[in-house]
Amino acid sequence: MDKLTVRDLDASGRRVFVRVDFNVPLEDGKITDDQRIRAALPTIRLLLGQGARVILASHLGRPDGKVQDSLRLRPVAARLGQLLGRPVPVTGDALGQGTEDAVKRLRPGELLLLENLRFHAAEEKNDAEFAKALAAYADIYVNDAFGTAHRAHASTVGIAKLLPAYAGLLIEREIVMLSQVLEDPERPFAAVLGGAKVSDKIKVIDNLLTRVQILVLGGGMANTFLLAQGRSVGKSLAEPDRADDARRILASAAARGVEVILPVDVVVAKEVTRGSEYKTLAAEKVPASWHIVDVGKQTIARMTDALATARTVFWNGPMGVFEIPSFAAGTRAMARLLAEKAQGGATVVVGGGDSAAAVHQLGLAETMTHISTGGGASLEFLEGRELPGVTVLLDRPAGVAANS
Ligand code: 3PG
Repeated sequence: MDKLTVRDLDASGRRVFVRVDFNVPLEDGKITDDQRIRAALPTIRLLLGQGARVILASHLGRPDGKVQDSLRLRPVAARLGQLLGRPVPVTGDALGQGTEDAVKRLRPGELLLLENLRFHAAEEKNDAEFAKALAAYADIYVNDAFGTAHRAHASTVGIAKLLPAYAGLLIEREIVMLSQVLEDPERPFAAVLGGAKVSDKIKVIDNLLTRVQILVLGGGMANTFLLAQGRSVGKSLAEPDRADDARRILASAAARGVEVILPVDVVVAKEVTRGSEYKTLAAEKVPASWHIVDVGKQTIARMTDALATARTVFWNGPMGVFEIPSFAAGTRAMARLLAEKAQGGATVVVGGGDSAAAVHQLGLAETMTHISTGGGASLEFLEGRELPGVTVLLDRPAGVAANS
């Protein structure tokens, strides 16, 4: 990576502001997936081990500039404390005298977590005064919030212009792995894309089409491609106004010789709810009042055949409504197939969000080459866009090798 990282700095005794992405899913105040917290541990441990005074900061949810008790970072601090084996104090607010005093009291090797940055509207506005107040806590800035690197906010971009700004170990690994997929994939290279909407993925498909040999499409977004082929999708989630994009993508894939796999059979349900009646049908026989909720077995078999030779796979988005166990078979099958491929030596990179959650739920995470902690961020990177939270970090001077 062409950016300086925490391994390039001696943080001993220094005050280090570390932007992390602890935007984790919560249910009834309990964290249901702590991967983002775990993923930040190497950087935090490295800095504490060096005797830095560590000020951690994150957002949680979208409170839109208002304090929301359900989005306080206390449960996150508790989980981080368990993982680190030491208590992690969390301030009552990201700003204020109490927080300034708590930062001043930090001794070498100690840490604290600022309260949810997005309780201040200034954070998302990349407000200069807010960035200045955050920067005043520290001597050095480290960004390890890969999941938020596509946002130009005060804690990801504003502050990085005010302090010497380094990449954390998570950002480094994410950029190295995603760059490898984008720039130097072993061929055949396959993209497996699912999830609800094609509109979220058009740019990434356009960019990947110039690089992949195989394109596998499932989930709600495949319905728009079925529509584009003149099929009826009943009451399924689909974006008819994107059918032209889908046609253009299919034509461009054909012109480039990219093999495209679309569902040939689908699981349909009367309602998209637990306990609803469901059955598997050919993709051209979806009844007018039913919803497509998963790919069928024949489709899984086709996808398996198509991916047999792939040496690199990027997967983003579930194959069906996998939160409902009866509609999760396609996503589970894809996770198992890709884990087997990774075990067989293929490079398998899973984008963040639901596909990552599925892999973790099935206990297959260790097998994959890399699971990104960024949903939107990994997609924007694969669209070929710069991530503002990375661009702003210090460039590695020419001729200066990275510390390992
Ligand atoms: C994410 O979960 O994708 C990141 O934490 C960014 O959150 P946001 O989409 O609310 O900016």
